[in-house]
Amino acid sequence: MVLDSTTLPAGLERSFPVWGGPAERLRFLLAWAVLAPSRHNAQPWLFEIEGDELRIIADATRALPAVDPDGRELAMGCGAAIVNLRVAAAHFGHATSEEVVREHRRDGLVARVRLEERRASSPENEELFQAIPRRRTNRLPLDGREPPTGLVTQLLREARREGVSLRLVEEQQRRPVAELVAEGARRLWGSPRFRSEYATWSRLNRTGRADGMPGWASGRSDAAALLQPLLLRFTNPARVEAERERWRALGTRALLVLSTARDGKAEWVAAGEALERVLLRATAAGLSASYLNEPIEVPELRARLRDLLGEPGVPQLMLRLGHGLVVRPTPRRPVEEVLRRIDVRYRRPALLARYDPSLALPRPPPPRPGAGAGAPGTLH
Ligand SMILES: Cc1cc2nc3c(=O)[nH]c(=O)nc-3n(C[C@H](O)[C@H](O)[C@H](O)COP(=O)(O)O)c2cc1C
Repeated sequence: MVLDSTTLPAGLERSFPVWGGPAERLRFLLAWAVLAPSRHNAQPWLFEIEGDELRIIADATRALPAVDPDGRELAMGCGAAIVNLRVAAAHFGHATSEEVVREHRRDGLVARVRLEERRASSPENEELFQAIPRRRTNRLPLDGREPPTGLVTQLLREARREGVSLRLVEEQQRRPVAELVAEGARRLWGSPRFRSEYATWSRLNRTGRADGMPGWASGRSDAAALLQPLLLRFTNPARVEAERERWRALGTRALLVLSTARDGKAEWVAAGEALERVLLRATAAGLSASYLNEPIEVPELRARLRDLLGEPGVPQLMLRLGHGLVVRPTPRRPVEEVLRRIDVRYRRPALLARYDPSLALPRPPPPRPGAGAGAPGTLH
C-alpha cells in the first residue's frame, strides 16, 4: 500500500503502544516523521532504533547531485522529519532530547533523538501535531489576502526556537528579489542535468510510486504529466519557468527567507527543523506555502540575495505564504521501508559506565595524616 498523508490509518492515534517499550514507541512515531517535506519528495532518510534512541541517517542513494550537490537540502529534509517526530512524541506524552552530528560521516548519521521521561503536551504542540498530516506544498496560485496579523511574529518565534532567523522580504525589496528568483529559475531549468534529475523524480498523476512528485502537485493535467519527461528532454523551458517564478514572487504578499549564522551540516539540519515548525504553524493558521529557492540553489545568486536583503546570515530557504485552495497530499514510503534496524532490547548504559571524573564531582578531601589517599574520581 502506498502511504500518503491521507492514509495515516484511521484511529492510528489510539494505537500508541502504551504497554510497549521505548523502541516500539519510536517505531510508532515514525508514521508522523515520514510525512515531512523533502526536495523532489525524495524522502532521503533512513532510521535505526536501539532502545530509547532513534538514529536519523541520510540516504545517499536519494541525493540530488544536480540541484543539491552538497546535500544541504537533504539535511533539511532530515531536520523536518526530526521535528515531526518530536512534535508527535510530545503529543503522546514524551519529552525528547536531540543531538545533531556536526561532521559529515560516511555512515550518513545526521542526528540521534532520545525518548525521555513522560511529560504532558502543550496546546501549542497540539496545534502543530494536528497540522502534520494537513501540511502540503501548495504551488497553485495564492489569493491576495495578507497573512493574519501576528502570524508572522509567531513564525519568527518558531524559527528562532531552532536558532534560525526568519525575515519578511520588505515591499521595496520584492521586485529585485523577484528578478533573482527569475534568474535562478532560468539558470536551473536551462541546465540539462537539472532537467534530467527533475524528470527522474517526476511522476504520473495516477502514480503507484511512493516517492517523487505527481504532476498534479504542480498543477499538471494527466496528459501534461505523461509528456513531462519527454518535454524536459527535448525542450528548454527556462524562459517560461523564469517568467512563472517571477510572477509568483511578485504576486505573493508574504515572502519569507530562512537564514542561519553559518553554513554547515548542523545549520542545515536546524534550518530544516525551523522550516517544518514554520510550515506547521502556518498550516495550523489555515495558510499555504511553497518555495522560491532558485536564487539560493545557485551559489552566485545566493551571495547576491544575501547582499540585497542586507542579511548578516546565510540564506537557506525562501518561501511564499498565503491563502490558497486545499491541495492533495503527495505519497510517502511506508515506515517498514525506511526503518533499517530496530533493537528493542537495548538498555541505556548505567550511570557508572558513563562516569567522567572531569565532570561535576567535588574534589576529595585532603588525606588525613596517617590515612591512605583515596583514589581520585571514585564514586561514593
Ligand atoms: C529543503 C526543501 C527544499 C524544497 N525546495 C523546493 C523547491 O525549490 N521548489 C518546490 O516546488 N518545492 C520544493 N520543496 C517541496 C518538495 O517538493 C515537497 O516537500 C515534496 O514534493 C513533498 O510534497 P509535500 O510538501 O506536499 O508533502 C522543498 C522541500 C524541502 C524540504
